[in-house]
Amino acid sequence: MARIIGVANQKGGVGKTTTVANVGGALAETGERVLLIDLDPRGDLSSYFGVDASEAEATVYEGIFGEEPGLGDVVVQVGESGLRVAPADMDLAGAALLLGEMEFAQRQGVVRGAIAEVAEDYDFVLIDLAPGLELLSVAGLGAADEVIVPQQCSFLALHGLRQVEASITRLQEANPRLKVCGILLTMQDRRTVHHREVIAMVREGFGELVFKTVIPQTIRVQDAAIAHQPITEYDPRSEVAELYRAVVREVLERG
Ligand SMILES: Nc1ncnc2c1ncn2[C@@H]1O[C@H](COP(=O)(O)OP(=O)(O)OP(=O)(O)O)[C@@H](O)[C@H]1O
Ligand SMILES: [Mg+2]
Repeated sequence: MARIIGVANQKGGVGKTTTVANVGGALAETGERVLLIDLDPRGDLSSYFGVDASEAEATVYEGIFGEEPGLGDVVVQVGESGLRVAPADMDLAGAALLLGEMEFAQRQGVVRGAIAEVAEDYDFVLIDLAPGLELLSVAGLGAADEVIVPQQCSFLALHGLRQVEASITRLQEANPRLKVCGILLTMQDRRTVHHREVIAMVREGFGELVFKTVIPQTIRVQDAAIAHQPITEYDPRSEVAELYRAVVREVLERG
């Protein structure tokens, strides 16, 4: 049975999708069977890998909310390492309406049930969530056993993480299995003292929950996205590829 990990933060643009793509890539490189699920109607993860979900016969929307096909049938292989992606597009925005009409228990169960059907084919399922805590993201975290919280190194980091902490506590009432795998600090500008101070503050506030590895801000990460590859494939010898491998070692240790 796979470890099912949601990658979430209420705040936008903190590196959620980048984390899913690159942690996914680094996991797949070690031989783990990895499925990445795009649970964001904007389809950013799908775009990251150059998958045009609007041209696909079926997407995550049908895979989760339709009668047929199952989530396993909408999966496409990307890259060289066997990484698989379940793509999404704007159709998934309709999920919020469907979820809104459901009873709470059914709402929590529908995403979980669809993922559970495919989970035994994988070692890891990573779910890319939209920012905010819309019904779809709440249902996505209801399906997860763990959550990775990426957080940009900015002066609002600590404040943002306190909000995430409060939300996770509330989500745990509905899904008591949910635990924090780790907080991943991203986009560190190493030239600024300020970012080092932010990192120290977050470590002081959240202790062991914070991954030892911090991802720096680097154009290589964006170049990899433009090339539709995880950094470990795009530039396997780069420092940032090595850092994502280090994150993966921490994730494996925390399993
Ligand atoms: N380490 C990094 N160095 C440089 N740029 C980065 C890094 N990580 C992410 N970015 C860039 O920052 C932007 C936001 O990242 P990303 O899309 O992963 O965030 P997100 O949290 O998924 O955003 P959203 O909330 O909109 O879904 C992207 O343009 C991405 O390429
Ligand atoms: Mg995103």
